[in-house]
Amino acid sequence: MNKVVKQISYIEVADIAELTSEEEAIIKVAKEVTKGSYAPYSQFHVGAALVLDGGIIVKGANQENGAYPSGLCAERTALFAAGANYPDKAVKILAIAAETKGEFVDEPIVPCGACLQVILENEMRAGAPITILLHGNKRTYKIEGVSNLLPFAFTLK
Ligand code: THU
Repeated sequence: MNKVVKQISYIEVADIAELTSEEEAIIKVAKEVTKGSYAPYSQFHVGAALVLDGGIIVKGANQENGAYPSGLCAERTALFAAGANYPDKAVKILAIAAETKGEFVDEPIVPCGACLQVILENEMRAGAPITILLHGNKRTYKIEGVSNLLPFAFTLK
């Protein structure tokens, strides 16, 4: 028997001004696009903003539905829109913010397992990791590549 330890790593920043200006700006876009969330059931408004190669910005927000499983998370809304509109542009940065009951969340939220799987395939398609920025009032996590959130990913290869 062999106990194996896998490491993940991320950077925690207290103030988004510590990030690059591009990262700081895309977090602001993620906060802004929470306004596009349709979340009458959860009241949890999530915004996801992407920077693609060449600086193109693509935004997404969670879209719920009375037939609950038909809704979609902010991250996949943004990633699928990027895939549909800019299939040849790699995603460089993904920023996520969330607001509920009129306040942005204090602690960063982490994408659900299904979104992590979609982020992973996006990275594999582009052949490069995505910088993932998870933003909360108290702290922001900067994560270089989804393997730090999904260390045992399903792949067909
Ligand atoms: N949600 C997201 O959009 N992204 C996440 O990372 C977590 C959850 C949405 C799904 C649902 O509309 C609401 O937040 C509550 O779960």
